[in-house]
Amino acid sequence: MRPNQQDLSGKIAAVTGAGRGLGSAIAEVLADRGAHVILNDRTLEPARKAAESIRGQGGNASPIAFDVADATQVEDAFRQILRDHGRVDILINNAGIGDFVSFPEISSEKWDRMINIHLKGSFNCCQAVLAGMKAQKYGKIVNVSSVAGKRGDFIGNAHYTAAKAGIIGLTKSLALYAAPFGINVNAIAPGLVATELSDEMSSEMKATTISRIPAGRLGRPDEIARAAAFLVSEDASYIFGETLSVNGGSYMD
Ligand SMILES: NC(=O)c1ccc[n+]([C@@H]2O[C@H](COP(=O)([O-])OP(=O)(O)OC[C@H]3O[C@@H](n4cnc5c(N)ncnc54)[C@H](O)[C@@H]3O)[C@@H](O)[C@H]2O)c1
Repeated sequence: MRPNQQDLSGKIAAVTGAGRGLGSAIAEVLADRGAHVILNDRTLEPARKAAESIRGQGGNASPIAFDVADATQVEDAFRQILRDHGRVDILINNAGIGDFVSFPEISSEKWDRMINIHLKGSFNCCQAVLAGMKAQKYGKIVNVSSVAGKRGDFIGNAHYTAAKAGIIGLTKSLALYAAPFGINVNAIAPGLVATELSDEMSSEMKATTISRIPAGRLGRPDEIARAAAFLVSEDASYIFGETLSVNGGSYMD
């Protein structure tokens, strides 16, 4: 029997924004495949509950609270993770917020908040794990972009779209830098998925979006999670700088 290329036994994985939604689904799949998962959220309670649920199913998981947009909090948190676990093999930059407004409603404050959480947050966490991954000559990073970052968004929420497009650029640039050190950096670009974030959309906006999805339905968190798990597995060992669409056919590039 050949080894299971999707097995993550012994790996330490950090997932940001893992208290609910896509992040908790990704954490579950990584734990199912054998990783010890560190679940982050801005506050401890949601991360603690999601980690407890994974442990209840026999997985290994621990919670940690920090705000990905705050570089000092991120540095301190990853120092703590390294003290507790010795290494970080896998990083999933998933933490994010939605804001379904059209262009004229994007204030300067909204712009900064969106870019700081999605784009700077992903940068902060990549920066915090990179030295360790380089030293161990092994690492898998997956950044969560969006179909909006590839195609733009019909409602005109350019701050979200710009942050998600920026994540694609961050992914490619870091992938070029990190590949010689044995580190795969990739991204996923989900279409609309049934989570609390997409519940913030008006039902009219949601119905219009679904009518444009060839698969005829929203994505499920587990469908996105398995795509992320593929990219951190040895099945994806020769994939670098890719942004994998997981969108029911709603955009093809
Ligand atoms: N749901 C979708 O349709 C969809 C589609 C494409 C991309 N995405 C992206 O997937 C990711 C997860 O989305 P979701 O639908 O699960 O959203 P969600 O709102 O259900 O979950 C996001 C989680 O991130 C956490 N978070 C927010 N800001 C944070 C911060 N500064 N530091 C730490 N944690 C923070 C929240 O507390 C929450 O637990 C986001 O990056 C989102 O943009 C979602």
